[in-house]
Amino acid sequence: MASLAVLLLILSAARASNAAAVRVGLTRVHSNPDVSATEFVRGALRRDMHRHARFARELASSGGRTVAAPTRKDLPNGGEYIMTLSIGTPPLSYPAIADTGSDLIWTQCAPCGSQCFKQAGQLYNPSSSTTFGVLPCASSVSMCAALAGPSPPPGCSCMYNQTYGTGWTAGIQSVETFTFGSTPADQTRVPGIAFGCSNASSDDWNGSAGLVGLGRGSMSLVSQLGAGMFSYCLTPFQNANSTSMLLLGPSAALNGTGVRTTPFVASPSKAPMSTYYYLNLTGISVGTTALSIPPNAFALRADGTGGLIIDSGTTITSLVDAAYQQVRAAIKSLVTLPVADGSDSTGLDLCFALTSETSTPPSMPSMTLHFDGADMVLPVENYMILGSGVWCLAMRNQTIGAMSTLGNYQQQNVHLLYDIHKETLSFAPAKCSTL
Ligand SMILES: *[C@@H]1O[C@H](CO)[C@@H](O)[C@H](O)[C@H]1NC(C)=O
Ligand SMILES: *[C@@H]1O[C@H](CO)[C@@H](O)[C@H](O)[C@H]1NC(C)=O
Ligand SMILES: *[C@@H]1O[C@H](CO)[C@@H](O)[C@H](O)[C@H]1NC(C)=O
Ligand SMILES: *[C@@H]1O[C@H](CO)[C@@H](O)[C@H](O)[C@H]1NC(C)=O
Ligand SMILES: *[C@@H]1O[C@H](CO)[C@@H](O)[C@H](O)[C@H]1NC(C)=O
Ligand SMILES: *[C@@H]1O[C@H](CO)[C@@H](O)[C@H](O)[C@H]1NC(C)=O
Ligand SMILES: *[C@@H]1O[C@H](CO)[C@@H](O)[C@H](O)[C@H]1NC(C)=O
Repeated sequence: MASLAVLLLILSAARASNAAAVRVGLTRVHSNPDVSATEFVRGALRRDMHRHARFARELASSGGRTVAAPTRKDLPNGGEYIMTLSIGTPPLSYPAIADTGSDLIWTQCAPCGSQCFKQAGQLYNPSSSTTFGVLPCASSVSMCAALAGPSPPPGCSCMYNQTYGTGWTAGIQSVETFTFGSTPADQTRVPGIAFGCSNASSDDWNGSAGLVGLGRGSMSLVSQLGAGMFSYCLTPFQNANSTSMLLLGPSAALNGTGVRTTPFVASPSKAPMSTYYYLNLTGISVGTTALSIPPNAFALRADGTGGLIIDSGTTITSLVDAAYQQVRAAIKSLVTLPVADGSDSTGLDLCFALTSETSTPPSMPSMTLHFDGADMVLPVENYMILGSGVWCLAMRNQTIGAMSTLGNYQQQNVHLLYDIHKETLSFAPAKCSTL
């Protein structure tokens, strides 16, 4: 109860100071008949953009400074990868899902009532941080900017309700200083990052205390840092104990041999597709056999549907039916084990019964995803998954959603670099737990 009062105080203090800033500005507007209120707000918006552009330059020009966050697989039964970062002053470390399929950065904020989920680690309390602020509606990185129009009410704060494929989260858009890096020596503090202070969420975020969006939109961590590039390497799915690094900035570059590069396909301009990273998948082989998938199966359509995205926040790859049926048939023809109905226990469509819970599945050839100019070779452990007594294809038919999705199960032990400037994805096989 005490913290509720403190939070309200903080909110009203933030409102008051925003209102004061706007009032000062408006006073000047009134004293200068040549500057309209609309122009004033536009100016504020531009200043806000410059503020964020400045961080971008700081990151890019500070001798290759890179922001780093350790990542790991979440709970044994969960399907997400978790990065650790810190929020506020003094910094509070918390785990968040790393998601290239969305933009908003959010965490649960105290006071958190019945609408909050039981999170891993300590709850962030804005009233205990000296760097917390509420984001004005008209900020360029506020989700409300479009709704607020050219002259939002002074001191208005932006409420959001972000929905995902599974679940949602709601709260007030805020700003904070974030701290990245695992050791004091490589720590980087970045002020003024816009984030969602959530006080209500669906109960779908086990093992985390929020999420970090790494998509293309202005709200994402990648965009707010002006990082230009980022790389990650997802540790093996069965091993929830090992960690690897998510790097944002120039040092994210991939070194060494065996690196393949494919261009991103321009995203549709419509939200949410504009957030996603689209790839040009031209074919799939199992072993040396190229599957007969129609050449336009993964083409983006004019209405923004179709195509294939790469998403660290989705677990199981979904393929447009014309491609999925070919993959399914190819795997079924190679495996001599009896087909089992694993849909109840795994939710997957194609499963095989193992002779016993401990028996080793048969060996299988690799599956190759032929991207434009770059082949991604998936060993069997990247496309088949072991359940209790069943062995299933870790792919499904795209029945929900507008596009096919390359999920994180397929990205295990692949070092991936998203180069935003060059508009390319580079990748190389890697042992992520040893990087
Ligand atoms: C947010 O949106 C979801 C899905 O539309 C809805 O179920 C939920 O009640 C909303 N939450 C809030 C706090 O508005
Ligand atoms: C979340 O915060 C908003 C803004 O202060 C408030 O209107 C809403 O009632 C809060 N929701 C819950 C579930 O506490
Ligand atoms: C997720 O959390 C809910 C409620 O807190 C719990 O019932 C469920 O078992 C958890 N799931 C996992 C995979 O831990
Ligand atoms: C992973 O960590 C848990 C808890 O710390 C431990 O019980 C388990 O043995 C570890 N597993 C492996 C494979 O190291
Ligand atoms: C690649 O090499 C550079 C220079 O040695 C280093 O700074 C960078 O961290 C390396 N990148 C990765 C992803 O290991
Ligand atoms: C996808 O790649 C193929 C083969 O390189 C090329 O012909 C086609 O134009 C590419 N499509 C897009 C949308 O880039
Ligand atoms: C795939 O989805 C289509 C509808 O989109 C459905 O008709 C078909 O039965 C599904 N196939 C499998 C194997 O699930």
